[in-house]
Amino acid sequence: MKKKVSFAALFVCVLAVCALVLAGCGGGSSSDSTATDSASTDATATDQEATAATTGDYTLVEDGKLTCISNLYFPPFESMDDKSGEPVGYDIDMSKALAEHMGLEVNWLPSQAFDSLVPTIKTGGTADIAIAGMTITSARQEEVDMSDPYIDSNQSLVTKVGSKETMESLDDASKKVAVQAGTTGEEWVLENLTNATAVPLDDIISAMTGVQTGSYDALVTDLPVASYQIKNSFADLQIVESIPTGEQYGIAISKDNPALTAAINEALAEMKTDGTMDDIQVKWFGSKL
Ligand code: ARG
Repeated sequence: MKKKVSFAALFVCVLAVCALVLAGCGGGSSSDSTATDSASTDATATDQEATAATTGDYTLVEDGKLTCISNLYFPPFESMDDKSGEPVGYDIDMSKALAEHMGLEVNWLPSQAFDSLVPTIKTGGTADIAIAGMTITSARQEEVDMSDPYIDSNQSLVTKVGSKETMESLDDASKKVAVQAGTTGEEWVLENLTNATAVPLDDIISAMTGVQTGSYDALVTDLPVASYQIKNSFADLQIVESIPTGEQYGIAISKDNPALTAAINEALAEMKTDGTMDDIQVKWFGSKL
């Protein structure tokens, strides 16, 4: 009898596992086929209508537009074009491609402080997404939804060319290490250079200028930003060390708008397979990352 029960139990387990596996596969393909189905059902409608039907019922601050916010002092991810005053960069191209994949127009709002982005998205009503080279962290995920990752990143320690400072020498109260307020770079300095004086600034460009002029001994920021800036505008700065934090950037969306997160993730997945993501990486970094 005992044996019978355990056989039965085993059988049930096997069935359950099979069901789970089937459900897993079915889930993926059925949502795929739903997407294709609704797209083909709507084949007679305009492209825009077809996309709206596929992406479900998310809300937008302004109809037909993907309204975006960022801190526009973080090249090559986002900055303001000197001549046109328009936002440019990796994330701007991402936002345009996302909007295009969703049948929307892109609408960029003026730059705001990095540490105000998550609160703005959380409050709602101003912007649909924050796209800002923003690392996916569990603290941020408590406040807002973060999309699937779209690029990997790390931190870096930057000093002036000729400076003898090291990670060890900087870990001293007399040393000023500049960071951008509210970033993972700031968090890293507070946790790892506990004796140094961390100086939180509005943006990383002022941190770089400050290291250049000697106001700060070093700065910590995202490695791709440091490399790009040193190559293009700050030849007198150097990367002393890259810091392998293993970060990933995602897009912040209000928790009240889960259908928008789903639609953004769907568009990101499409952009990964249709080559859009590769094109943007090559455009800004010269090669696929
Ligand atoms: N990746 C870092 C973070 O999430 C820095 C992002 C800064 N982005 C910007 N647009 N200023 O904290």
